Amino acid sequence: MNTQESGFFTEENSADVVIARNAGTEDARLKEVMEVLTRHLHAAVKEIEPTQEEWFKAIMFLTDTGHMCNEWRQEYILLSDVLGVSMLVDAINNRKPSGASESTVLGPFHVDGAPELPLGSNICLDQKGEPMLVRGRILDTDGNPIAGAKIDVWQANDEGFYDVQQKGIQPDFNLRGVFRSDAEGGYWFRGVKPKFYPIPDDGPVGKLLGALGRHPYRPAHLHYIISADGFETLTTHIFDPDDPYIASDAVFGVKESLMAEFVPVDDPARIDAAGFDGPFLEVAHDFVLARP
Ligand code: BEZ
Ligand code: FE
Repeated sequence: MNTQESGFFTEENSADVVIARNAGTEDARLKEVMEVLTRHLHAAVKEIEPTQEEWFKAIMFLTDTGHMCNEWRQEYILLSDVLGVSMLVDAINNRKPSGASESTVLGPFHVDGAPELPLGSNICLDQKGEPMLVRGRILDTDGNPIAGAKIDVWQANDEGFYDVQQKGIQPDFNLRGVFRSDAEGGYWFRGVKPKFYPIPDDGPVGKLLGALGRHPYRPAHLHYIISADGFETLTTHIFDPDDPYIASDAVFGVKESLMAEFVPVDDPARIDAAGFDGPFLEVAHDFVLARP
């Protein structure tokens, strides 16, 4: 008798038997996903040949990962981040036409409802850190300005913490703001130089990174979500190319095109024009939005 037809399971035909058992799946996409997953998972298990103890350890790792999740913490997304899967899914879903700005991970620290502010506003509400002017233009792929684009920005402070990680220490909505590009597509706002920081590493994903000899740090960056009618929304960052972790981001979010120089400015006229009372860093970066 053909073992595949009878559904009897052997080490050799394991994936085929399981896939055949799922033949009645009505949802064609689910059927396809389960078939691919089953094939690759069985192949991995055959290659690894785990002991029962190792398999139980893997089950407990996933159990602990689930237990770490709550309203504020999504340990599975962190796992996907450090495995490079978040960036792979992002890449697959954000293939851009040539010239359009590249995307990167959203991360867990975006907050809805940040205040909409006039261009030039200072998003640093506690005056802590090295002052920074961020400016640039929002353009289409032909180089035309996009007026009225919504630019939602957020960043960590000079110690590498977001406001939501330091409630009662940082003011609410510190280092967050929503701006609209002007008629020339221009945007500018003031903030402070962000610092590198560790992704949350007090859970199973942090332990895994430790066991793999990896650090949990992300290089200093500014987050953006840029949206405009008639264009694809862009979720991205800009990075400090001189950051010590620029070549080893724990979540693989860095792209060459997203580097932005932090240039010191000490010319008194420019200090005055930018609204600072001393030297500052200037970060200039344009973004190009793709049409759907
Ligand atoms: C972030 O940049 O905010 C971030 C991204 C992925 C994991 C943790 C933090
Ligand atoms: Fe971040």
